[in-house]
Amino acid sequence: MFSLDGQTALVTGGSQGIGRATALVLARLGADVAVMARSLDKCETVAEEIRQTGRRGLAVKGDISSQVEVKAAVEKVAAELGPIGILVNNAAVTRDGLLLRMKLDDWQSVIDTNLTGVFLLTQQVLPMMTKARRGRIINLTSVVAQSGNIGQVNYISAKSGIIGFTKAVAREYASRNITVNAVSPGFIETPMTAVLNEAARNAMLEQIPLKRPGSDFDVANTVAFLASDEAGYITGQVINVNGGMYM
Ligand SMILES: NC(=O)c1ccc[n+]([C@@H]2O[C@H](COP(=O)([O-])OP(=O)(O)OC[C@H]3O[C@@H](n4cnc5c(N)ncnc54)[C@H](OP(=O)(O)O)[C@@H]3O)[C@@H](O)[C@H]2O)c1
Repeated sequence: MFSLDGQTALVTGGSQGIGRATALVLARLGADVAVMARSLDKCETVAEEIRQTGRRGLAVKGDISSQVEVKAAVEKVAAELGPIGILVNNAAVTRDGLLLRMKLDDWQSVIDTNLTGVFLLTQQVLPMMTKARRGRIINLTSVVAQSGNIGQVNYISAKSGIIGFTKAVAREYASRNITVNAVSPGFIETPMTAVLNEAARNAMLEQIPLKRPGSDFDVANTVAFLASDEAGYITGQVINVNGGMYM
């Protein structure tokens, strides 16, 4: 198994779901890990779980759509845990609705968090990685960015933007030994999907050749691999973790 000893990671949206699982896997592999979300209490709980693995864990409160809060959060992580070498842009929200009924605020707030937040974090962390001449950026996109879906034009536009962003930054920073990849989950059991009703859940399951929803750790293990030295020749890619839902 690969090792992340000596690395510092920042996981946005690390307070629950895929972000929490990712933070724990990175810590088990040896990284010190900071988790960032708007709810400090939940981040504190995960930071304590990280410390139980023997690594340093840090809870950071902040809204990724705010440039001021992102700057403060990244500075806090660097001051307490050291320069960030692994950035997992995981935090996201949904505000689903059909296009004709979608309010401008439903569009804008999802773009601000899910896409602009990724830009703000990446821009803030890249100078540390450039200086270290090593970096791993892993951005969470979604199967629906590849397949389309009804009622999610805001979310899908942001998640498709992340795929383009990933490829652009991968090319821009490859010469500095910084890799940038996207992980694209399918239907994963987390608080985000717990709100789906029985019919929507069954419709999703029917589309999955492996005949089960994914777990947060299915995704976390892939993110952790991309953070490792062993994944050093992979950049600008979209890695699907979807049980075959989209091939
Ligand atoms: N679950 C799935 O089936 C699935 C499928 C495809 C893709 N994904 C993607 O995988 C990632 C994780 O999904 P998940 O299901 O684990 O989501 P989740 O359970 O809803 O967790 C979202 C996390 O993001 C944080 N967050 C939301 N808005 C934020 C903001 N403005 N600033 C800082 N933190 C914020 C939340 O904490 P606070 O609310 O406290 O801020 C929470 O920690 C997302 O990018 C999602 O789009 C998930």
